[in-house]
Amino acid sequence: MTSPWGGDRPFTAVVTGAGSGIGLALAAQLRERGAELVLADVDRAAVLGAAERLGATAVVADVADPEAVEQLAEQASGARFVCLNAGIVGPSVGAPWEVPAAEWDRVFAVNVAGVVNGLRAFVPRLLGAAEPAHVLVTASLAGMTVFPGGGAYGPSKHAVAAVVAHAAMALEGTPVGIGMICPALVATGMSPVGADPADVAREALRAVDDGVFAVVPPEWRAAVVDQLATVAAGGRPTPPAPAG
Ligand SMILES: NC(=O)c1ccc[n+]([C@@H]2O[C@H](COP(=O)([O-])OP(=O)(O)OC[C@H]3O[C@@H](n4cnc5c(N)ncnc54)[C@H](O)[C@@H]3O)[C@@H](O)[C@H]2O)c1
Repeated sequence: MTSPWGGDRPFTAVVTGAGSGIGLALAAQLRERGAELVLADVDRAAVLGAAERLGATAVVADVADPEAVEQLAEQASGARFVCLNAGIVGPSVGAPWEVPAAEWDRVFAVNVAGVVNGLRAFVPRLLGAAEPAHVLVTASLAGMTVFPGGGAYGPSKHAVAAVVAHAAMALEGTPVGIGMICPALVATGMSPVGADPADVAREALRAVDDGVFAVVPPEWRAAVVDQLATVAAGGRPTPPAPAG
């Protein structure tokens, strides 16, 4: 297990997209675990409010901007736990050709380049520190299997999951761990219905404790495997459904 905590060693944690939803819940629970927090969000009011509530440092940053993320990493140079969580859904939820080009660009810039910018800024620093550290990426169930429609969001989350898997292989044998959470619907600014973000955050941190690479809701695991098996055998994908 590679974990930045353990014992009473203080540690600094960074959370992107910390102004709301899953990011805010991760921040609150990392605070309970004793982390000094550096919270980042593109929404100034949201990140200032979260930071005030949690006694954290607030950074207004757009994760799609590599320089802003580099500055965030510089500001949080002692960080040993990095949550690359910020993400968006575009307004289009139809088939790929129905999504405007600018929307493809923005969703991929935030969801995919946002994670890549985070890895480029933080991983070399974490490796340089040569201490246990962890990167936790918020992917999505939509990056594990293909749902009908979904606009640019699902494809972007598949790219995120692939980036995290590549990074995991590259970090094998180092003190820097990486993993991802792949939640189904969560009740946040992004969705009016779904799981409680506090539960998602709790399970995410427990997964880090347990050395679990990917957190996929148990009721969806068979559907993820079945769709992939169908495609690997030459079949067309059909909409996945949860077990039970
Ligand atoms: N809510 C769901 O159903 C669900 C399911 C699976 C995965 N996710 C993922 O969880 C992550 C968090 O989303 P959430 O559900 O908490 O939504 P949310 O809208 O409540 O929170 C997202 C936060 O990210 C911030 N953000 C957006 N773009 C940003 C940018 N370019 N730079 C920095 N911050 C930015 C927003 O201002 C907001 O505070 C996202 O990556 C999302 O794709 C959400």
